[in-house]
This record gives sequence, C-alpha cells and structure tokens, in this order.
Amino acid sequence: MRDEAKKSIVLIGIATGFCGLAGAFLLNLWGRPATRISIPLAAPEFTNTATVRMSAADLVRTEGDTSGFSCYTCHDAKKQLLVNLDTNGAVILAEPHKEIVMKHGRNNRNEHCFICHDSKNLESLRVNEGQSFKFTESSRLCGSCHGPNYRDWEIGVHGRTAGFWDRKRGPIVRSDCTSCHDPHAPAFPPMKPGPGPHRLHLEKVFSAEKRNP
Ligand code: HEC
Ligand code: HEC
Ligand code: HEC
Ligand code: HEC
Repeated sequence: MRDEAKKSIVLIGIATGFCGLAGAFLLNLWGRPATRISIPLAAPEFTNTATVRMSAADLVRTEGDTSGFSCYTCHDAKKQLLVNLDTNGAVILAEPHKEIVMKHGRNNRNEHCFICHDSKNLESLRVNEGQSFKFTESSRLCGSCHGPNYRDWEIGVHGRTAGFWDRKRGPIVRSDCTSCHDPHAPAFPPMKPGPGPHRLHLEKVFSAEKRNP
C-alpha cells in the first residue's frame, strides 16, 4: 500500500512538472529562437549570364538560325543594289528589312548601308580602306572606326572576357561587339538594376521587435 502511494505521488509530480513546462512554453516564458527568414532568390533575369543579343558568330557557334545572313536567297548577285534615300538623307528601308532600326550615332550620316556592307558582295562587310570581313568577324569592322574601344576590348577592359585564366588550359573568349551592340542601333539598351543585398541582420532586429513589442 505504501508503495502504491509513493508511485502516485511520483506520477502526480511528473505530470505537474510537464504541465508546468507546457504552460511555460505556451506563455513563451523563455522566448523562442528567431524564425528563419526565407530569402527570396533573385529573379532569373538578374542571374542570367547571356549577353543581350546573339552576334553572327554566336549564332554560328551555337548552330542557331543564320538564314538572315544568306542575302542571296532574295538578292541577285548580278544586279547592282541601290539604296533609296529620303529628302533628309535617311535610308528608305525595303519591306523585308523594315524591322531594322537604323540609329548609329546622333545624326544620320553613319547610316548608309554600304558604309559597312559590301555592295559587290552582300554577304560580307567592308570598310572604306577596302578590307573585307565575314559577318563573323564584325568586331574588326567596328574596330576600324572605334579604335579606342577596340583597343580596350582587345586587352579586356571593354566588353566581356570568358574562358581560362591559365592559358595553358585553354583560350580566352572575348564577346563580339555585336553580342552586346546592335550594329544598326548600337546604343546599349538601358537595364533594370538588380535587387540590393539582403539586409538579414536588420530583418532579425525587426522580427525581434515584433516578438517583444
Ligand atoms: C527576305 C528577302 C531578303 C533577304 C534575306 C535580304 N534582303 Fe536585302 N532587300 C530585299 C528586298 C526585297 C529589297 C528591296 C530592293 C530590291 O528589291 O532589290 C532589299 C534591299 C536591300 C538594301 C537596300 C536598302 C533597302 O532596305 O531598300 C540593302 C542594303 C540590303 N537589302 C542588304 C541586304 C543584306 C546585306 C542582306 C543579307 C545580310 C539582305 N539584304 C538580305 C530582300 C531581302
Ligand atoms: C564607318 C565608321 C563606323 C563603323 C564601321 C562603326 N561605327 Fe559605331 N559609331 C560611328 C560614329 C561616327 C558614331 C557616332 C558618334 C557620335 O555621334 O558621337 C558611332 C557611335 C557608336 C556607338 C555609341 C552609341 C550611339 O549610337 O551613338 C556605339 C555603341 C557604336 N558606335 C558601336 C559600334 C559597333 C558595335 C560597330 C560594329 C558593328 C560600329 N559601331 C561600327 C562610326 C562607326
Ligand atoms: C555600322 C555598320 C552597319 C551599317 C551602317 C549597316 N549594317 Fe547591316 N549589319 C552590320 C553588321 C556588323 C551585321 C552582322 C551583325 C551581327 O553579328 O549580328 C549586319 C547585319 C545585317 C543584316 C542581317 C541580320 C539582320 O540584322 O537582319 C541585314 C539584313 C542588314 N545588316 C541590312 C542592313 C541595311 C539594309 C542597312 C542600311 C539601312 C545596314 N544593314 C546598315 C553592320 C551594318
Ligand atoms: C559585354 C558587352 C559589350 C561588348 C562585348 C562590347 N561593348 Fe561596347 N558598350 C557596352 C556597354 C554596357 C556600354 C556602355 C553603355 C552606356 O554607358 O550607356 C558600351 C559603350 C560603347 C560605346 C559608347 C561610347 C563609350 O565609350 O562609352 C562604344 C563606341 C562601344 N561600346 C563600342 C564597342 C566596340 C567597338 C566593341 C567591340 C570591339 C564593344 N563595344 C564591345 C557593352 C559592350
């Protein structure tokens, strides 16, 4: 009988102890560890490492659609192609080229098609000095007028460099000018700024204030 009484006392003791603990937890006597703040990932547009456009060389490399560079599917190699200009000297674009926006520089003196395209071989580029380039070599065309930018690009302070630091393991790759600039309207498009850094430490202070107002 005494053993039974002892047992009940112990059990009641344990039960009261647990009830007390439960009450303490419910009343949050010792506080709770701060809840983990879930940090939203930056939108993919800010982590995407692709250049803003694909140059002719990029399209060839990635086996993309290069049909736009086959001029002689429409043009006749034997016929002299003329460029029509309006009274302001701006090029009047033919229907198939309507999507081209010509805006190279602040005036229209740089917009005649044959400043860059070879009138005798449409599938190549040509500069005044007579050098001829393939569409995939367009950076050299740009360099013929933009010497300082081209030199900066060659040494890696303009544009983008990828590939290997250790040249023994592989070459470096410089993005073409036309991977970033549309040759017909080269001004770089405005970009939306990415989100700022996450203020994790401040969030902690705010959520602590919410817990103990
Ligand atoms: C889908 C058909 C098509 C393709 C492809 C095409 N052109 Fe044309 N292009 C035309 C037509 C049509 C004209 C109007 C003149 C004519 O009929 O010859 C024209 C006119 C032009 C002109 C004169 C300016 C103008 O817009 O009228 C230039 C310069 C020119 N093309 C360059 C090119 C070059 C360079 C390529 C290849 C990179 C090319 N074209 C590919 C159809 C085409
Ligand atoms: C025949 C010479 C010539 C060639 C070739 C040429 N540019 Fe230009 N570029 C100019 C001139 C001139 C300006 C205008 C400068 C100004 O208005 O202050 C210009 C302006 C620019 C600008 C500044 C934005 C703007 O519209 O004012 C960029 C970017 C540019 N060019 C990139 C290129 C790229 C990329 C290529 C090669 C696809 C290229 N250029 C080929 C002569 C050239
Ligand atoms: C400042 C030099 C420059 C001038 C001026 C220029 N182009 Fe181009 N164009 C290029 C280069 C460089 C490419 C190939 C670029 C690439 O890598 O995407 C090209 C590509 C093209 C293409 C094929 C791809 C596309 O964008 O459709 C057509 C068609 C074309 N040009 C037509 C014209 C016509 C028509 C004019 C005159 C209204 C003109 N271009 C004026 C430099 C020029
Ligand atoms: C990785 C992208 C990228 C590449 C590749 C690139 N550029 Fe640019 N370029 C830019 C950006 C971004 C600007 C700045 C635009 C601004 O400030 O509004 C710029 C500006 C320019 C300007 C305007 C004048 C100046 O100096 O600020 C010229 C001209 C120019 N680039 C020419 C070139 C030429 C020529 C090449 C190739 C030899 C080239 N770029 C390659 C991204 C590029």
